[in-house]
Amino acid sequence: MNTPSILFVCLGNICRSPLAEGIYRHLVSAETYAGQIASAGIGGWHAGDPPDRRSIETARQYGIDISTQRARQVKQQDFAAFDLILAMDSSNLGRLQALAPREYQDRLHLFSRYATSTDVDVPDPYYGGQAEFDAVYTMLFSGCKALVAKFATERFS
Ligand code: 4NP
Repeated sequence: MNTPSILFVCLGNICRSPLAEGIYRHLVSAETYAGQIASAGIGGWHAGDPPDRRSIETARQYGIDISTQRARQVKQQDFAAFDLILAMDSSNLGRLQALAPREYQDRLHLFSRYATSTDVDVPDPYYGGQAEFDAVYTMLFSGCKALVAKFATERFS
């Protein structure tokens, strides 16, 4: 399996990207995975905070513990440090494209586009309820499964 380092990015790094990080980490836990797996937010409002309690609960229902994660903001060094930087929605992707140096633009992708060749946003569930968090979980789980399958067979790039 190819084991690229991956940074999952959303707006606040408390709802979607911590779930993506937790799910992906869980799925590759049986593999010898050399690449770093992390998440970050476009904004720094929640830096140092644990994930939103609804994301923690949603993950826990599927046997995944994300409670020890702490939010942080995307930083310039991330663009050189990660092989892949996967944005949860097209707004996040646009912000990353504006921040990243030209030589690292090809590391930036929309999560769904890269994982499943679908141009859909993982919607921000912050102002939603459990149904929105469940929908996010389902999208992230199928996307992360697709990433694992992809890296089992193809070279990433
Ligand atoms: P996330 O959700 O981007 O999935 O972590 C949000 C969390 C917090 C805020 C926005 C989105 N906020 O504006 O504080």
